[in-house]
Amino acid sequence: MSKRIIRFGIIGCGLMGKEFASAASRWCHLIDLDFVPRIVAVCDPNPAAVTWFSENVDTVETSYSDYKELLKDDTVEAIYCAVPHHLHGEIYVDIIKSRKHLLGEKPFGVDYETNIKIKEALNSNPDLIVRCSSEFPFFPGAYQIYQWVKDKRFGKIIDVEVGFWHSSDLDPNKHINWKRQIDTNGEYGCMGDLGMHVLHLPLRFGWKPGNIRALLSKVISERPDKEDKMVPCETWDNAILACEVKQEEQNFPMTLSMKRIAPGHSNTWFINIHGTKFSAKFSTKNPKELSSLPYNPGESQAWHVEDTTHMSAYKSITGAIFEFGFSDSILQMWAAFCDELVNKENMKQSFYCATPDEAEGSHKIFSAALESNHTGRTIQIDWGN
Ligand SMILES: NC(=O)c1ccc[n+]([C@@H]2O[C@H](COP(=O)([O-])OP(=O)(O)OC[C@H]3O[C@@H](n4cnc5c(N)ncnc54)[C@H](O)[C@@H]3O)[C@@H](O)[C@H]2O)c1
Repeated sequence: MSKRIIRFGIIGCGLMGKEFASAASRWCHLIDLDFVPRIVAVCDPNPAAVTWFSENVDTVETSYSDYKELLKDDTVEAIYCAVPHHLHGEIYVDIIKSRKHLLGEKPFGVDYETNIKIKEALNSNPDLIVRCSSEFPFFPGAYQIYQWVKDKRFGKIIDVEVGFWHSSDLDPNKHINWKRQIDTNGEYGCMGDLGMHVLHLPLRFGWKPGNIRALLSKVISERPDKEDKMVPCETWDNAILACEVKQEEQNFPMTLSMKRIAPGHSNTWFINIHGTKFSAKFSTKNPKELSSLPYNPGESQAWHVEDTTHMSAYKSITGAIFEFGFSDSILQMWAAFCDELVNKENMKQSFYCATPDEAEGSHKIFSAALESNHTGRTIQIDWGN
């Protein structure tokens, strides 16, 4: 099969830039796809980050320290951008203005105002595919829950809990980095860092909170810097958002939690949906395990617990027997982005990456959460409809 080659540039060659390069190097894992990404250009002002690419990714033709130079390269068609949050606004707008497709990291702007500027640039270039990174819905268990919601299996929704929990910040000796400082990570703190992952599926399902009461907490107030001098740790560590989803046909409570300090959890993303006809639970804590509870009035209530296969959105060589992991979810998300870029509305499956509208929805919620925490009040969220 001849494959359409998509020439990618990566801006930001840190942790996530490297994860993407690793995913590209195992594209052969996916089968029946008629497109393939090729990383041909990279940019990072840190020479060590760029060197990793020249040593490990043999498709790279050019490396840059200034992203504006990369954007002048007309042979680059699409960009994956993974830079600190305070740089999203300027760099994403410039990428869009340079007429390149963009898979940008969350939160898609350091604050709501910046997110709107990115949306405005996109309004002038509506033909570009611009999407926000969020890979957890591609875990087979999460993907199955997406199908169940689409198939309206749950009956009346009773309540929903979605969360994303980490714990390495429990260690007070962990050094500070840009993710713990307001100038670089933004006022949202853990919500900007973890929140789009939590909101991608609820917003895709149309579960927009009409109001929100937020409890934000700072657990560790200072951390050592590179010289082991203690400096303020400014950002919110944990966020618990109690929301009321109001839809024409039903209202239900939804709890969203984003925690940098959840003892014992390392990259635990979960979704629990309880309904009158069907309930389902999935957590990356046990990434194979998917639980569901079908219910008929008067009959017994028994959870069915199954090990999922490896099958996510796109078929892979793995087939049914081996388990799925974080790097598989990145690979699947990238396939969805490339599929949409090449096939537009005729994607090979229906789950597309998080959209700029969904990212804007997350900003509305985080901004309301900051206000709620500040005032101690429940804040109404206006969705303009
Ligand atoms: N999808 C996920 O699961 C996931 C996980 C972690 C982080 N992220 C997101 O990825 C983004 C980057 O996070 P990270 O963990 O990779 O951070 P990182 O600190 O490891 O990497 C960021 C890189 O950006 C580079 N950079 C800084 N200024 C730049 C500029 N002007 N031009 C080009 N490069 C520049 C830095 O030198 C660094 O190498 C953030 O938006 C973060 O929220 C996503």
